[in-house]
Amino acid sequence: MAVRGEGCWIFASDGRRYLDASGQAAVVSIGHGVQEIGRAMAEQSGKIAFAHTTQFHSEPAEKLAARVLAIAPKNFQNGGRVYFTSGGSEATETAIKLARQYFLETKQPSRYRVVSRKQSYHGSTLGAMSVSGNVGRRAPYAPMIPEWGHVAPCFCYHCPFGKTYPECDLACADDLDAYLKANDSASVAAFLFEPVVGATLGAVPAVDGYTARIAEICRKHEILVIADEVMTGMGRTGKPFASEHWGLEPDIILTGKGIASGYAPLGAVIVSPRIVEAFEKGTAAFMHGFTYQAHPVATAAGNAVFDYLEEHKLFDRVTPAGKELRDALSELEGHPNAGQVRGLGLLQGIEFVKDKASREPFPKEAGIAEKVRQAALEKNVLVYPGQGTVDGVRGDHILLAPPFIIGKGECGQIAAAVGYALEKTFSA
Ligand SMILES: Cc1ncc(COP(=O)(O)O)c(C=O)c1O
Repeated sequence: MAVRGEGCWIFASDGRRYLDASGQAAVVSIGHGVQEIGRAMAEQSGKIAFAHTTQFHSEPAEKLAARVLAIAPKNFQNGGRVYFTSGGSEATETAIKLARQYFLETKQPSRYRVVSRKQSYHGSTLGAMSVSGNVGRRAPYAPMIPEWGHVAPCFCYHCPFGKTYPECDLACADDLDAYLKANDSASVAAFLFEPVVGATLGAVPAVDGYTARIAEICRKHEILVIADEVMTGMGRTGKPFASEHWGLEPDIILTGKGIASGYAPLGAVIVSPRIVEAFEKGTAAFMHGFTYQAHPVATAAGNAVFDYLEEHKLFDRVTPAGKELRDALSELEGHPNAGQVRGLGLLQGIEFVKDKASREPFPKEAGIAEKVRQAALEKNVLVYPGQGTVDGVRGDHILLAPPFIIGKGECGQIAAAVGYALEKTFSA
């Protein structure tokens, strides 16, 4: 039972304390137990906790929207808007419907499919699952979810084409073009992808040139680009949004997790002026809504977290802290089963392989990722395990995504615990 949090640590009812090396699920950015956030939420709740968005705007939601837009890529300036949800899955649902209605507003009613990638995760509601490409998580619900098309991920370590970057000439990006040409592109509304793949691949950034090629292909086929930054947004990779590492200007960005650092359930759909204008010229009403969208107390938490990030210059802390974490993890790279250490900023992953030369994974039944998690726990360090890294079934990794306040000494503690976990798991 978690009873208290402070900084990068979680205290449990059994008296143990744990170093939160995963920010729970890449959620906690400013650290646990920051008292100002609760105070700001209580203050908002004391003024007004809830007002339905069909009748009122609220000051914290308006303020947070302006702040999020100000740090979004250039194309969101001058007329962008933000739609707040209660988390990432709701943000994905919202974006799917927004893309569909955009094409109704612009008189292209044939467009509705949202194409995405294999080995991706966009949420657990049925719409979000239809775009998620994780075969394991989809399988039980397959009859209930539409198949709109999934193309290759950008994943050099297990390239689906058996090629090597950069000689591959971005075959994975061109897979989208080939797919659209062969599969009724006139019915496609958008392409949705994670610029850095989090939970399903274990922190795999796009290679240079990938996002530009994707944007070009989407433009050619006149479909929208949606960047899922639920995990990577709000500073996690060293820029406010990971899209900015490559100058990508998506039509829509999804974010969540770090936007309120776990202090309140909050997600957001950041919408570029191009889409807003189409709605304004059309019906001017998005046929969608959640009771708790743009919740005053949740967005007050978002503002207080934003204040904290700015006051403590934590956006700037991510790149150096990420380097400290990576340096600490570098001592594990020599381990015969640590296939690859990878990531961007404070979103790092380690993939485990049976054989480093062939990159062959362990069988699923070996449960490697969970064993590593359990062993790290013995050293009081929390990591985020994932399976299905290679093809949705085989493959194991852990994700490391600590709060932005992580110190060098704590990075050393994480590396030592993971080192112990590797010895214990693989020498057994
Ligand atoms: C990239 C991505 N999109 C969407 C989601 C779904 O967000 P939530 O769990 O808040 O619904 C997640 C959650 O892990 C995610 O990592």
